[in-house]
Amino acid sequence: MSDNLTDLPGVGPSTAEKLVEAGYIDFMKIATATVGELTDIEGISEKAAAKMIMGARDLCDLGFKSGIDLLKQRSTVWKLSTSSSELDSVLGGGLESQSVTEFAGVFGSGKTQIMHQSCVNLQNPEFLFYDEGSVSEDELAQPKAVYIDTEGTFRPERIMQMAEHAGIDGQTVLDNTFVARAYNSDMQMLFAEKIEDLIQEGNNIKLVVIDSLTSTFRNEYTGRGKLAERQQKLGRHMATLNKLADLFNCVVLVTNQVSAKPDAFFGMAEQAIGGHIVGHAATFRFFVRKGKGDKRVAKLYDSPHLPDAEAIFRITEKGIQD
Ligand code: GTP
Ligand code: MG
Repeated sequence: MSDNLTDLPGVGPSTAEKLVEAGYIDFMKIATATVGELTDIEGISEKAAAKMIMGARDLCDLGFKSGIDLLKQRSTVWKLSTSSSELDSVLGGGLESQSVTEFAGVFGSGKTQIMHQSCVNLQNPEFLFYDEGSVSEDELAQPKAVYIDTEGTFRPERIMQMAEHAGIDGQTVLDNTFVARAYNSDMQMLFAEKIEDLIQEGNNIKLVVIDSLTSTFRNEYTGRGKLAERQQKLGRHMATLNKLADLFNCVVLVTNQVSAKPDAFFGMAEQAIGGHIVGHAATFRFFVRKGKGDKRVAKLYDSPHLPDAEAIFRITEKGIQD
């Protein structure tokens, strides 16, 4: 709340008030807004919106970045262990911050279990990996998670059980996990947008879980005629998640359903919902499938800088295990 919006070009006290009212409380919010979003506010023209956004970008130092700057930002990446050493190693160490990681698979493949385990592991300092000196001391102090639950499958008892087996206090995990039940896609998107408010209020949100990313969209936008609208909204939602990951150095995890691929004779007979919109927005993509008994196989595919690979892990009463 400390930014003085009237420092922006063309913004007087009354416009500043309107911006704040609409949730644009600081330069960063404006710098990363679109012209269309700002012109939704009464009295802001396209030209004025563009000017404000450019001004805010200058003040936030957004724009072209040199390779060195990017390398510096990448150097603050930290990783969260999954509890499976194979899965961690396929990921190059663990679930990465500043990225969106997707777990797709059929029902019962273990997606929700991985999400629960991640909330537990966030509270275990030994499961947060980073290079010495790359992450400041405050960065990972008292980390908190946000769990957006669209299917009503978040289970605090399961968290307690996993925590107990990991030797950490389950109560602490629950205290540090904000759970929001989203009954439709609008609620889901709104909750994701509200995460920034939680951060402004002083919560050190370091993990964001969306379980599941696509079920609400899939239920609401049925039929071919609705596909374009669905994809557009999903794209906006993914942009919100990517922004959170980047700006606040969070790990973002999403689960996804699969549908049959109509023309698959070879390779994978199933595909994740959401098409290219989700595909391009997720940095790491996994297919999880059931193996024998409690075994599960997670296959990493389409990653920009890691080879396709498979990891085998188990789901037991203790949680995710080797
Ligand atoms: P959908 O959300 O339905 O698509 O499935 P999902 O991929 O999220 O599956 P989920 O993570 O809910 O996995 C469910 C599976 O995890 C169950 O079939 C069990 O095999 C296993 N599981 C869940 N809870 C426990 C538990 O407390 N003990 C044990 N041993 N296994 C569990
Ligand atoms: Mg699930």
